Amino acid sequence: MQLTERTAVITGAASGIGLALTKRLLEEGMSVVMADVEGATLAREASALSESGAKVLAVECDVSDSDQIANVRDQALAKFGAVHLLMNNAGVASGSPNIRTKPQVWDWVVGVNLLGVAYGVSAFAPLMVEQGEGHIVNTASEAGLCATPMLGSYHATKYAVVGLSESLFMELDGTGVGVSCLCPELVDTKIFESGRNAPPETGIKPPPQIPISQIEQFMSTVAMDPRDVAGQIVYAVRANHFWIITHQVTRARASQRNADFHEMRNPRSPFAPR
Ligand SMILES: NC(=O)c1ccc[n+]([C@@H]2O[C@H](COP(=O)([O-])OP(=O)(O)OC[C@H]3O[C@@H](n4cnc5c(N)ncnc54)[C@H](O)[C@@H]3O)[C@@H](O)[C@H]2O)c1
Repeated sequence: MQLTERTAVITGAASGIGLALTKRLLEEGMSVVMADVEGATLAREASALSESGAKVLAVECDVSDSDQIANVRDQALAKFGAVHLLMNNAGVASGSPNIRTKPQVWDWVVGVNLLGVAYGVSAFAPLMVEQGEGHIVNTASEAGLCATPMLGSYHATKYAVVGLSESLFMELDGTGVGVSCLCPELVDTKIFESGRNAPPETGIKPPPQIPISQIEQFMSTVAMDPRDVAGQIVYAVRANHFWIITHQVTRARASQRNADFHEMRNPRSPFAPR
């Protein structure tokens, strides 16, 4: 798919993977609509990019509200005339024992991680099919391919995004609209600080129990640079690859899960001895 002179819409664009992809697509000559719920951070990042001459439009948006996603689409069309690439990327993580996860936390995580992707597809895919061209990247996770304990709401939504993406790929095959599913392992972003965007009724209070400085030090030591993830996304969009598997270890873990399934073995924690 040609990127130059085209328009992309990215949700969760104020930070992490979304921000890195925004910068990469601008370098590729695209216009980018940056959507995010964190209005102040979004405005700061977008104005820094605009000052250097980039074609960006910032739209504050909570992806768990379909009307707000429709507003992003309308503003994108009004400003740039068409949308060629959509990245449904906004996401949050909340770890807690599954047996104690509150309904309000389920509502939040499902609303952002799953419904946000579904609403993005509903708002933009019909336009792309009509224009006979486009590409949708849905951000799932390695957590959408294999599970760990204490993270049920995250896994449930990310498995769901993988399923939605596979179904969408099949449905749109032959329409000119491609679909990719991004499944990263650890990336150096603010995902462990997701609580900053949690609605008050969840009871999740930022900052987390571990000091931010320790999280940041850990992430910058072991996690992938989001710019490398952005590069892999651009490659996959150009080549129309469905799977964007950023870390080799993910294929091994998913294969192990499939082997366990094939042999009808019960689930085992990746932290337990084999
Ligand atoms: N960082 C990782 O290790 C990792 C691994 C696998 C998958 N992911 C996924 O990558 C995606 C991007 O996350 P990230 O790692 O860059 O984290 P991040 O926290 O740095 O960025 C996430 C962005 O989403 C925004 N956001 C949160 N709730 C929103 C809402 N309701 N509406 C609109 N925007 C909202 C945040 O404000 C933030 O700008 C997420 O879907 C996440 O689940 C991350």
